[in-house]
Amino acid sequence: MTSTRALLMVSGGIAAYKACFLARLLLQAGFSVKVAMTEAATRFVTPITFEALTGHSVATDLWGEGQSEALDHIEYARWADIAIVAPATANTMAKATHGIADDIVSTLLLAFGGPVLMAPAMNDNMWRHPATQANLQTLHDRGVATVGPGDGWLACGTISEGRMSEPEDILAAALEMAGSLKGLRPDQHPRQEPSSIQSGFWTGKKVLVTAGPTFETIDAVRFLGNRSTGAMGFALASALIQSGAQVHLVAGPTAMLPPRGLVQTDRIQSACEMADAVATGLQAGCDWLFMSAAVADFAPKEIVDGKIKKESMQGHWSLDLQGNPDILAEVVPVHRTDETKVVGFALETEDVLNRAASKRQAKNMDYIVANNPTAEGAGFGGVNHQVTLLGSDGVVWQSDSVAKSKLAWGILNNLADNEKDTEYDPRG
Ligand code: C5P
Repeated sequence: MTSTRALLMVSGGIAAYKACFLARLLLQAGFSVKVAMTEAATRFVTPITFEALTGHSVATDLWGEGQSEALDHIEYARWADIAIVAPATANTMAKATHGIADDIVSTLLLAFGGPVLMAPAMNDNMWRHPATQANLQTLHDRGVATVGPGDGWLACGTISEGRMSEPEDILAAALEMAGSLKGLRPDQHPRQEPSSIQSGFWTGKKVLVTAGPTFETIDAVRFLGNRSTGAMGFALASALIQSGAQVHLVAGPTAMLPPRGLVQTDRIQSACEMADAVATGLQAGCDWLFMSAAVADFAPKEIVDGKIKKESMQGHWSLDLQGNPDILAEVVPVHRTDETKVVGFALETEDVLNRAASKRQAKNMDYIVANNPTAEGAGFGGVNHQVTLLGSDGVVWQSDSVAKSKLAWGILNNLADNEKDTEYDPRG
């Protein structure tokens, strides 16, 4: 099967640096990628970066100046199956709306006849301006898809709407676009595609998601933590929101920004705080709980008020630790109802599936997502991950090594399919 050819067009915003990461994700996901940049974009990131990433010349102007070989730049528009504009600045969106073709990106956009995905990124006032909103409406009416923008830190120093979506979310939207491009009916989409949106399984469901690490305080400056970034839980929360679920996120300390559209967000530090937030979330009513947080198993027995002086240790320090509450084993059973479905996560490095299956039973979970962080194509902090979803009848789904955003869709689709199969099983 030939890969989908994506033309990545980068316009001039600070988010241009994130487009490098997006290019890599697109390549890893199997797209062929060529890049075009506005002059302003080249002020933020050099075309050489994209050339090195994609192995192709980068189109930066209409005249082929500064290129080692003459380029027929319109050829990029003929070559591509889909076009992705990330970041899409207010200026580039305005030009696309009005058919202006005065630089390489706007010219290619006008020359390109296929599906276009834009990831807007700009100052919040520019985003909210009636001109930009009217342009957005026109682009949508013409069938241009958009992803984001999200809330978060903007380069102008405010926290507001206008921040470009994370590359993983743009990739997920590009994969969706590529899937429909291949002429597949929704029911023929590979199981990783968001078919659970179409099935409506998650629509209106109340879902509690935990994500990230917990930090256990030692003293005024030190803590015990782990390498979890929260990416898996945040990807699940994001996919659930897009599927119409009402999502309450309980997140440990992570640099990740929560997706837009959450019903409630609790930022916690320690396992005990997470236990309290989960108890409250379950009491409020919950159809599904995803415990994807990497909860610390132990915490210092005593928290020291000030900073412990290293001189007081004489070169050696033993910390006295005590066990944290096991949220799944001790807190969830008290507050869940019989209808609450519980999905846990197991990180194992040996005998992964057997250990995960025993853990599922021991902690009374309906499903468990087993993963081995030391396996090739998996692990903390990485872009890709590989998991196995287990239910009461064994393996429900085994993923390839894919981006965590794609994995989230795979988990949700397969849970939805499995629940529907169980519901309608004539054997009862
Ligand atoms: O026993 P183990 O820590 O491997 O179990 C992992 C699962 O249990 C994860 O879903 C994690 O969120 C959850 N967990 C918990 N409370 C703890 C430790 C882990 O709920 N104290």
